[in-house]
Amino acid sequence: MAEVKKIAVIAGDGIGPEVVGEAIKVLKKTEELFGYKFELEHGLFGGIAIDEKGTPLPQETLDICQRADAVLLGAVGGPKWDNNSKELRPETGLLGIRKALGLFSNIRPAVVFDCLKDASTLKPEVLEGTDLIVVRELTGGIYFGEKFRREGAGGQEAVDTCVYNVQEIERIVRQGFEIAQKRRKKLASVDKANVLETSRLWRETVNKIAPEYPDVELEHVLVDNCAMQLLRRPSSFDVIVTENMFGDILSDEAAMLTGSIGMLSSASLGEGSFGLYEPVHGSAPDIAGQGISNPIATILSVALMFQLTFGYAEAAEVIERAVKQVLDAGHRTGDIAVDKSQAIGTTAMGDLIVAAMVR
Ligand code: NAI
Ligand code: MG
Repeated sequence: MAEVKKIAVIAGDGIGPEVVGEAIKVLKKTEELFGYKFELEHGLFGGIAIDEKGTPLPQETLDICQRADAVLLGAVGGPKWDNNSKELRPETGLLGIRKALGLFSNIRPAVVFDCLKDASTLKPEVLEGTDLIVVRELTGGIYFGEKFRREGAGGQEAVDTCVYNVQEIERIVRQGFEIAQKRRKKLASVDKANVLETSRLWRETVNKIAPEYPDVELEHVLVDNCAMQLLRRPSSFDVIVTENMFGDILSDEAAMLTGSIGMLSSASLGEGSFGLYEPVHGSAPDIAGQGISNPIATILSVALMFQLTFGYAEAAEVIERAVKQVLDAGHRTGDIAVDKSQAIGTTAMGDLIVAAMVR
């Protein structure tokens, strides 16, 4: 008997419940194919939690997450809550859950499916074979440093400080090396070591721990150069590890290699194997309730959960192969369809992917 894995499911608002519903079908199919056992526990989160419990992140939802091995999150937010005070906004729940669960990195794969190459603004031959992951530090750096204003000779001055310590750098860089070990064993560490002191410490720390990962090929890339190389030779990257602000910018750039936001999965990780998995997109209020959203980002988030938290590499491949096969056969939801009149709905896409899952 396979060990039971506990998954907290927090579907959230808008299209969240629709796309999470399809991901759950994929989990069930994996149980059938591999004999795995998943115990799902559902929690309220975001706007719906504000409406029903008076807070975006109720304690019982946090408890469910804390006793789980992994969290599957849909999306939160919507116009209904946009004018609420800060503590009653769905996005406040997102920040709160990451903090409470000690998640210090954000992982975003950018995979180009050959049959969707035309959807990108880049030339198909440049994109061919692109399959990379950006590992971004999430809790340090300039976004969290001391900020203040003061009077200076040239009028008012604003100061943002960027601070990183060795411990923070080490834990994220180790995660980068470990993910690279599970993939094509190439790590690009991105910094601005020619200018910034935090980057010099970053690079020293990377070089100090690199000998512990002799099977991983390491390259140091300056952030401005990385921004160029992502457009010039995206397929040469495997894993990119970087600090908070550089990662914010580079992960959005990398996302655009692939075309649609409906295809992009993500993970937030802490110490150990625990992780929170979610699509990159939001709650898409403009199409919520119509049954036309693309569930692939959420389904690929399950594949990422299998890879990074459970070590179910073969099951992850089965999902990715099924998605590719369905796309290759020409099936498209509206967001990725060239001919919108041929587009299929959310559940039809989910059903096709489940049907294509074979060992
Ligand atoms: P969004 O990602 O929800 O939507 C942007 C555009 O992409 C929309 O036109 C939408 O219809 C489309 N889209 C997104 N996901 C899709 C999918 N799976 N299939 C087909 N089309 C898809 O971003 P937006 O509109 O800026 O934000 C909407 C709400 O979501 C806001 O309340 C925002 O705060 C929240 N949000 C939540 C996030 C989260 O829960 N992690 C992340 C980003 C935004
Ligand atoms: Mg961003």
